[in-house]
Amino acid sequence: MSATELLHGPLGESRYDKKMETKLVFQDAAGFATPMLAVFAVDIALGVDAEPLLALLTTSDAVTDAAAKALASGEFKGTLGEQLLLHGPSGLKAERLLIIGLGKAKTLSVDEVRKGAGTAIRSAKPRGMRELAIAFPEEHALSDEHLEALPCVGLARAIVEGAELAEIDWDTYKSDRKDRSVQSLTVVAKETEKSTTAEIHQGFDEGVIVSDAQNFTRALVNEPGNVLTPTELGKRAAAMCAEMGLACQVHSTAKLQELKMGAFAAVAQGSAEPPALIVMTYEPKGKALPKDAPVLGLVGKGITFDTGGISIKPADGMEKMKYDMAGAAAMIGAMRAIAQLKPMVKVVGVVCSAENMPDGRAYKPGDVVTAMSGKTIEIINTDAEGRLVLADGLHYAKTLGCTHLINAATLTGACVVALGILNAGLFCNDEPTVEKFWEAMKVSGEKFWRLPCTDDYKDQIKSQIADIMNTGGTRWGGAISAAMFLKEFVGETPWVHLDIAGCAWNDDVKPWIGKGPSGIAVRSIIEWVRAYSA
Ligand code: BES
Ligand code: ZN
Ligand code: ZN
Repeated sequence: MSATELLHGPLGESRYDKKMETKLVFQDAAGFATPMLAVFAVDIALGVDAEPLLALLTTSDAVTDAAAKALASGEFKGTLGEQLLLHGPSGLKAERLLIIGLGKAKTLSVDEVRKGAGTAIRSAKPRGMRELAIAFPEEHALSDEHLEALPCVGLARAIVEGAELAEIDWDTYKSDRKDRSVQSLTVVAKETEKSTTAEIHQGFDEGVIVSDAQNFTRALVNEPGNVLTPTELGKRAAAMCAEMGLACQVHSTAKLQELKMGAFAAVAQGSAEPPALIVMTYEPKGKALPKDAPVLGLVGKGITFDTGGISIKPADGMEKMKYDMAGAAAMIGAMRAIAQLKPMVKVVGVVCSAENMPDGRAYKPGDVVTAMSGKTIEIINTDAEGRLVLADGLHYAKTLGCTHLINAATLTGACVVALGILNAGLFCNDEPTVEKFWEAMKVSGEKFWRLPCTDDYKDQIKSQIADIMNTGGTRWGGAISAAMFLKEFVGETPWVHLDIAGCAWNDDVKPWIGKGPSGIAVRSIIEWVRAYSA
């Protein structure tokens, strides 16, 4: 038994067990018996300085009547995440009515509904409630001038996603952890002209799959570096693939040498933990795809701990660098959903996982390494290791036949300086490809902001003695230097690069989500892949 196994139980096992059962029923919300019924409210007042004027997103007269007095009091403004709880609401079978604000009706989108659903769950948890219901928002409860029709599939999906993401508290490693999980959530919907039962069911089912994938990713990101080594990440990916019917291979040092992955191997060589090269393959079954059908490559940075190596990081905040594998985790999570959503497109997931450590055998500033593509790289800073493992991962994905590439990585602090923690960075070398990503973002609700990677930035990675160097020759535009480095290895292949350094970990508590791993990029990547489905 290994030391890790001794401390934390059998390897390869996910520490995320889905506890909440989600159900969908079609009936009037007023007649549904539950400890707590949550209903959404929006502010329909027009004008910037107008007093809030609240409307509930329900067509149930009984629910509207039960809330009327409390809403008329003016105490509740309906801002996003605001809550008002009524005990023993008259005329309802529910023991409590929870009114949740979604903000201004004018700016309402699926995203606010996702957050609203999360707020319902997180308001139930500290009250020790195990069971609750959410009334499906009925948009026609409002006149069209206040609210554009929201996609019904998206609404159903957002409720499930928001609730599932909110349910988890990352207390896995607390020995006195109190189980406060919500065990049952019922979405109470009504069929209308605008929203059919089939559409609501479809959104609901997709929401279950997508949120489960995102939570799978978050659980991986939450793991400490001593538990989630590259080898363990490989085991978890392989176990997930076996469960979902995906092909999976996990390689290590020998394969890196065989493939001449000199950049990836250089990063790995300073650690006692061997690297893992994980390849997951999804192939649609049934009808054969045309010969020129796209093959999508999902490449993830999987640094299970980034000390910076010989260019060591300051001690302050270094513990956070366990989440330097969030890009890899996003790809593994996305593959999990893809296996279940079954799009008609082949997808290959490639994860390059290593630990970046200082050691007698570690790579050093000044070293020159040769990547799998044949390009030589002068190492300036061993802390710029993510681009090195990705260089070989991206090139390898191309040799596996990928025609379109997407990568996710907690790549640069500079991206966080540029964009803060609300938008992640996006770089792309191909307009039709980025268009598909913008469409995906409308469904996912995730925020990415595009930064440039045009060839005029190439000078930033020019080396005096090798083809390129691994950090910028300037301190300005560090996120762009990293993107330019990756671009050297994708060539003409359409490619999206997501720099998620600032968004992979939530440091703040929000009414709809706890602190910890965010699972950013999972939902957008899944939708981007589905956009290529034949
Ligand atoms: N893993 C870090 C980037 C990072 C920073 C992730 C903050 C999450 C939060 C990456 O490997 C790194 O250290 N990058 C360096 C690059 C520099 C040496 C050119 C950085 O951003 O400082
Ligand atoms: Zn680093
Ligand atoms: Zn890193």
